[in-house]
Amino acid sequence: MSLSIFTKKNLTRVVMPLTLALTAFSANVLAADVDADGANGVLKKNNCTKCHSVDKDKSGPSFKKTAAALKGKPDAEAKLTKHLTTGPMVKVDGAEEKHKVIVATDAELKNVIQYILSR
Ligand code: HEC
Repeated sequence: MSLSIFTKKNLTRVVMPLTLALTAFSANVLAADVDADGANGVLKKNNCTKCHSVDKDKSGPSFKKTAAALKGKPDAEAKLTKHLTTGPMVKVDGAEEKHKVIVATDAELKNVIQYILSR
């Protein structure tokens, strides 16, 4: 008979599910976390800030305005992904031009979009 709960069998039974639960928990927390510094770095590097700011309209709408317009829409992320990767025609100060296509990794793009949507 063993008095220890740390038998090999118990370890697998208790520790493994606990580890999995903790891993899933921290993944969720990370997914909800926006890296604002990272997003701002990407926005600066891509010159997005020339036409956009968080709360003032420039040539392009403020991120707060975009966030408000897309709030609660299930396709918000897909919409912005398309907007930022396909270069749709937009009106910049009265003249039609292609919107800037973002240069970023998939993870950076996702973070930038979450940043914009959470303004
Ligand atoms: C030359 C100016 C200019 C630059 C640079 C620019 N944008 Fe825009 N952006 C616009 C304009 C103008 C619109 C409005 C398009 C419309 O409403 O038809 C827009 C729209 C948007 C929207 C709203 C899209 C929607 O569907 O509501 C987002 C988000 C956005 N831009 C992000 C960015 C990001 C991120 C960058 C950098 C990669 C960037 N923009 C670079 C001018 C610019």
